[in-house]
This record gives sequence, C-alpha cells and structure tokens, in this order.
Amino acid sequence: MSKRVTVPEILGAKGNRKLSEVTAYDYPTALLADKSGIDMLLVGDSLAMVVLGHEDTLSVGMTEMLHHTLAVSRGASRAMVIGDMPFMSYQASVEQALINAGRFMKEARANAVKLEGGARIVPQVRAMVEAGIPVQGHIGLTPQSAAQLGGFKVQGKTAEAAKVLIEDAQALADAGCFSIVLEAIPSSIAEMVTEAVPVPTIGIGAGPGCDGQVLVVHDVLGLFDRFVPRFVKKYAKLDDLIVQALTKYREEVEQGVFPGPEHGFALSEQEAKKLGKS
Ligand code: KIV
Repeated sequence: MSKRVTVPEILGAKGNRKLSEVTAYDYPTALLADKSGIDMLLVGDSLAMVVLGHEDTLSVGMTEMLHHTLAVSRGASRAMVIGDMPFMSYQASVEQALINAGRFMKEARANAVKLEGGARIVPQVRAMVEAGIPVQGHIGLTPQSAAQLGGFKVQGKTAEAAKVLIEDAQALADAGCFSIVLEAIPSSIAEMVTEAVPVPTIGIGAGPGCDGQVLVVHDVLGLFDRFVPRFVKKYAKLDDLIVQALTKYREEVEQGVFPGPEHGFALSEQEAKKLGKS
C-alpha cells in the first residue's frame, strides 16, 4: 500500500508539479483511480446529476454524500479523499458546518472536505481548519448557487467580477484552505488568481495556468453525455463499449448461447446416477 497523499504534499506541489483530481462516487472507481496515481478523489455533489439523475446538485444531502464517500474511502489507499459538503449542510451556521464536516471525517473516513463560496464562508472554513479538518475551497461557477448566478455560466468575465474572485481566493487561503477549485472562469483570470494565492488552484474550465485540474470521472471516461461542458476532454468512450457489451449479452441470452456449459455447475456422476441421470 503506498503512502496517502497529504495536505503538506499538496501545498508543496505549488510551482513544482501539477496536481490531478477526479471525482469518484463508488468503491470500484476509487480502486481504479487510485491505481492510476490520481492525487485527489473528490466525492462531488455532482453525484446528484451523474449518478442519481437529478437536474442539479441541490437534491443530495448528508446521507447520500456520507454513504458514497465511505465507499470511495474504502477503495482509495493512496489518493486523498475529499467529501463535498452538500447544499445547506454548511450555509446555515458555523456550528452546523463544523458538525457536518466532522461527520465526513469520522463516519465517511474522508481526508478533507470541500465547500463552495468565497469570503462569505470564511467563518466556516476557519472553524473547520481550527478543528483539524483540511478544507478545499471552490469559487467561480459554484453549482449550489446556480439559481443566484443565473444558471451554469462562466464567471469572472468583467474586471469587477475578476477582482472579487481574487479577493475570495485570498480570503479562503488566509482562512486555511489547502487548495481552491476554480470552476468556469476565463483562463487569464485563473492565472491571476493562481499567482495571488500561496495554495494550489485546481481548475475545471479555468485553463492551463492553474496548479492542477479536476474533472468529473463520468466525463473523462465518456459515460455521461446528457450535458458535456466544453472544458471536458473525454479520454475514453465507455458508453459505446458498455452498450455493445450489454447488447451482445442480451442477444446471447435470447439465442440460448449464454450460459455455455463452462458457466454451469456439474453434478457428480454418483449423484447423477441416484437421480437416474447418467
Ligand atoms: O461536485 C463536483 O463534481 C465538483 C467538481 C466539478 C469540482 O464540485
């Protein structure tokens, strides 16, 4: 078993090597991603959309997130496992945020948590960091606030909005975040944010200037095409392979080709004789 990726290792990567992060929602995916040497596995609340079929990320709660995070934790022995705090698990109060973050660490064996928002969630981040819980920030397009942002839109497109993003990133870094996800912002702004903070920035739709990248695993593997943002690169097309395999299975069942003799269990000759079947 290789050594777990730690917070100091992530912090030390800035300026030295690029970091990789991908979402994972179950045990087999965690095993495979861990084998691939990915640094961080995010049990994202994108679970709601890509696994559970919801329209947005608002419908998952602590129960689902803890359940899936624990499965990923069981599968990952090297990658850092990050539990994504679901909508309304940290917004209402610092106390509730701290209790829920603690549940990710204690009950789901996460190594860190992620929460969306800039300066406005600094009190929550500080309380978690003081309690010894590593926190990954997330600014730019924050899907839990899509209603307020007017949809899933690129953020930071005006000079004013870009300044707010830089201030938010600095506030999160000052509060103790060990890394910050930058989602759907212009590449030049992501570079400015990256230069402005001492912790690694992890981009998704934020260009190559970030300190690392994160993608949704279903997008990377080509498993989900209901909505594919332009920043996604598909490294495989598993949806086609899966449909091919399942079609072949159905055909063989219908034709009586599967199961073959090699897939069955034989009765011993002696027992067969007793039944009059030799
Ligand atoms: O939930 C998620 O998958 C995320 C990533 C897109 C960063 O928050």
